Amino acid sequence: MLEKEDIVLQILEFIATVDWKKVASPGYPLQVFEITIRHFAGMISAWDLLHRPFSAMAQDATLRQALYDQMVALGDVLCCAFDAPSGVPRGFINPSTCEGNPDSRTSVAAVGPIILRFARLSDITNDEKYVNLARKAESYLLWPKPSSGEPYPGLLGSCVSVNNGKIMDSGGSWGAMSDSFYEYLLKAYIYNSDEYGYYLERWLIAVDSTIANISSHPYGRPDLTFLSNWNGPGHVDHRIESLAWFAGGNFILGGMVTGNQTLVDYGLSIADAAGAVYQMTTTGLGGEFVSWTTTCPGFPKGETGICVFNNAIQRSDGGFRLRSEVLETWYHAYHATKDPKYTEWSWAAFEAIDRYCRTDTGFSATKDVNAEDGGGKTDTQESFVLAEVMKYVWLTQLEDKNAPYHVQDGRAGIKNTWVFNTEAHPFLVAGPPV
Ligand SMILES: *[C@@H]1O[C@H](CO)[C@@H](O)[C@H](O)[C@H]1NC(C)=O
Ligand SMILES: *[C@@H]1O[C@H](CO)[C@@H](O)[C@H](O)[C@H]1NC(C)=O
Repeated sequence: MLEKEDIVLQILEFIATVDWKKVASPGYPLQVFEITIRHFAGMISAWDLLHRPFSAMAQDATLRQALYDQMVALGDVLCCAFDAPSGVPRGFINPSTCEGNPDSRTSVAAVGPIILRFARLSDITNDEKYVNLARKAESYLLWPKPSSGEPYPGLLGSCVSVNNGKIMDSGGSWGAMSDSFYEYLLKAYIYNSDEYGYYLERWLIAVDSTIANISSHPYGRPDLTFLSNWNGPGHVDHRIESLAWFAGGNFILGGMVTGNQTLVDYGLSIADAAGAVYQMTTTGLGGEFVSWTTTCPGFPKGETGICVFNNAIQRSDGGFRLRSEVLETWYHAYHATKDPKYTEWSWAAFEAIDRYCRTDTGFSATKDVNAEDGGGKTDTQESFVLAEVMKYVWLTQLEDKNAPYHVQDGRAGIKNTWVFNTEAHPFLVAGPPV
C-alpha cells in the first residue's frame, strides 16, 4: 500500500489552520448533518488511524495535538445544534453565534448519525457530554411517537420536530431524509455492543419490516430486490433513489455480524439489483431515480409476448451524481462472498466514471446515463467522490485483504475492530468486537 506521509502532513497542517467559528458566512450556516459526516467524522477517523495502523506516520506531536484540538473544537461547535427544546439537534447552526436555525423540524437521517461520532468523541476525550446529547436526541427515534410516525414496525416517517421530538409524518425510505438513521442503528451496535444492544434490536425490527412490507422484485427477476418508498401503512411507491442502494451493504453487514444468512442473501439480492441497473445503461452507470413494475409491463396478465425484465425498469432521473452507495454495497458483497463479480462490477463502474465524468481538474456529475457521452457534465463534484467513491473502489480491489479496517465476516468467526462511517471513514470499535 502506498503510504504518502507528505500528503498526510499537508492535510494535518491545513486542519490546524481552520477556525470553525468563521467558516460560515451570513446566510450560509453550517449544515449539521453534512459537517458531522464529512469534516467531523473525517478528523475522528484520522485520529484513530494515526493511533493504530498508521501510528508510524505523522509523529509530529504538535500536528497531532492540533488534530485533537480541532476535532474537539468542531465537536463543541456542533453541540450548539442541541440547544432546542427537545434536545433534537437543529439542522443548521451559525457557529459564530452558536444559534440554530428556527426551523421546527429536521430529518431522522440528520439525527441518526450523531450517535456514533459523539460516542467516539466522548470515548476519546473521556467527556460524557457529547454522547449524552446524542443519546437524548436518538431516544425520540428509538421510542417514536406518535404511532403514525412508525407506519411499519421499526420504520419511521422522515421528519422529526425539534420542539417535542415527535415524528411528524408517515413517509420514509432507505434513501434521503432517513438512510443514516437505519445505518447507525446497526453501526452504533458494532461500535459498542455493550452499550447499544437496543439499537441492534430496533435495526432487526426495521429490516424485518423492510423484507415483509417494503421490498419487491421486478417483473421476471425474483432474484433481484428493490426497496420502495413508503407513505403510511400499506402504501408503497416502487421507486428507489441512488442513495438507498447502501442498504444492500447494510443488510450484508448486519447479516455477517449476527450470523444470519437470510440477511446476507437479502443484501446480496439488493447488490445484484444495483448491478442489473448499472449494466442496462449505455454508460454502465446507474441513474439517480429508478422505478420498476412487478407485473408484466404493458401486457395483460398471463400474456408474456416480448415482455422482458428490462421493460420493467424505468429511470425517472437518469443523472449520475457520482454517488458511492452502490460501490459501498459491492464492497460488502465482495467481503461476504469473495465472488469476483463484485470486484469486476466495481472496477467497471470506476472505469465508466473515469471515462464519462473526468475533467481537467476533477470529476463531474453527468446528466444522462443512457446517452453515448453521459449527456454532458454538470460542473459539480462533492467531497464524497474522493472520500467514498474512490475509497470503496480501492478497498474492493485492495490486495491486502487482511487490512484491519476491512469489514469482517462473523459467520467465519472474525469480528469487526473497525466500523465505517457514512463517508467511508473508519472508526476504531470501542466495545467488545462483534
Ligand atoms: C434472520 O433474519 C430474518 C429476517 O430479518 C429473520 O426473519 C430470521 O428470524 C433471522 N434468523 C435468525 C436465526 O435470527
Ligand atoms: C407487513 O407484512 C406482514 C407480513 O406479510 C403483514 O402481516 C402486515 O399486515 C404488513 N403490514 C402492513 C402495514 O402492510
